[in-house]
Amino acid sequence: MGDRHCPVALFTGATAGIGEAILKAYAKQHRDARIYFVGRKEESARKIIEDVRAMWTDGQERVEDEGEITFVKADLTLLRNVQSVVEEVKRREGGEGRLDLLCMSQGYLTLKGRQETSEHHDAPLVLTFHSRAYLTYSLLPLLRSSNSPNGARVISILAPGDEGPLYLEDLDLKERHPTLIDWIFPGWLRRLTGLDPGYMMLRISHSVIMTTLFFEELARRERERIQEVHPTTEAAPDVLGHSGGKAGVSFLHVYPGLVKTNEFENGDFPVALKFFFTRILLPLITPMAVPVEKVGEGVTSMVEDKRFSLSRSIEGEQAEVAELGSDGVRGSGSYCLSWDGRRKVKENVLEALRKKGASELLWEHFEEGLGFLDTTTGE
Ligand SMILES: NC(=O)c1ccc[n+]([C@@H]2O[C@H](COP(=O)([O-])OP(=O)(O)OC[C@H]3O[C@@H](n4cnc5c(N)ncnc54)[C@H](OP(=O)(O)O)[C@@H]3O)[C@@H](O)[C@H]2O)c1
Repeated sequence: MGDRHCPVALFTGATAGIGEAILKAYAKQHRDARIYFVGRKEESARKIIEDVRAMWTDGQERVEDEGEITFVKADLTLLRNVQSVVEEVKRREGGEGRLDLLCMSQGYLTLKGRQETSEHHDAPLVLTFHSRAYLTYSLLPLLRSSNSPNGARVISILAPGDEGPLYLEDLDLKERHPTLIDWIFPGWLRRLTGLDPGYMMLRISHSVIMTTLFFEELARRERERIQEVHPTTEAAPDVLGHSGGKAGVSFLHVYPGLVKTNEFENGDFPVALKFFFTRILLPLITPMAVPVEKVGEGVTSMVEDKRFSLSRSIEGEQAEVAELGSDGVRGSGSYCLSWDGRRKVKENVLEALRKKGASELLWEHFEEGLGFLDTTTGE
């Protein structure tokens, strides 16, 4: 499989909503791409494959250099399933395998408290952070082999700009920490309803901050690696783009805006609340929502945009092309953006956390959890 020189992309959480829209926008621009996508719903996946093939063939039976699209069924709340997805992609891509894009948007909304998995994690937190971190780390060797002139991209669709509290001593949120929402939703109401909006807010805040700090650490390691592998400026990849798999990997944490998808319908809510969200709230907020197709096109345009590459030389003409990284360094390779490419990050919250050593703690915590994976696949 790895011999064809076409773009290769993996989408997780792409059987619906924002992920599906990005997949389709990408497929429209890359008619010869080899696309893998992951989710649980086979029926939705079948329909997406039909849609993409129809777009590629324009009604003909088959066209020359037509792309390939493959569905990989997996429940990503379990890390052992995440590992199986990685193995499946590697097996299909073969020894010379490469990946130009990893785009992740799996998740579901719930107002419930901790949802313990058999692997002792909170299921929604696994979808928004752990599964994405493990996919990224395990697929680095393939991403580093990308032929894309502006480097490979890892994109996580979540919510930069929604940074709130982070409990450094309890990154997995095993404890129930006090939140501001507890003033209006106290313990007795939580017990009565089985809902815990405070925990939900903490879960979002933890996922958001951990994503940004994790991506910053990966980008730092990627800059160091490139410096080592290509020490001279002539041989070095840069934001203006040298092809041949030498432009490195950059990491984009992207806020999609308020998007009307089936997220409320798919969410884990009591019937009455689901009715309120889908029949009353959603129609009210629809005029303010960004159309999902627009988000798909916006995010796809970031994939080959040299502003979001990793710049080896942080100073000089080439670096000026690059966007400001989440850490405030131009071209650092880790970017927090909204769907239309504007920078979006609460710098003061992140800076305070970096000073407390949050990045190092997060990395240690991640490495401790690597027992789930075959670590030879990563660094
Ligand atoms: N919509 C918004 O306004 C908005 C705003 C900010 C952030 N976001 C974030 O963007 C992401 C995507 O949202 P969306 O609106 O596109 O939601 P959506 O339409 O409900 O799509 C969610 C996707 O996640 C997948 N998924 C859910 N549980 C999974 C599991 N256990 N294993 C594997 N895949 C799973 C679903 O696939 P299957 O059901 O096939 O498994 C589906 O493809 C979410 O993380 C959300 O929090 C959304």
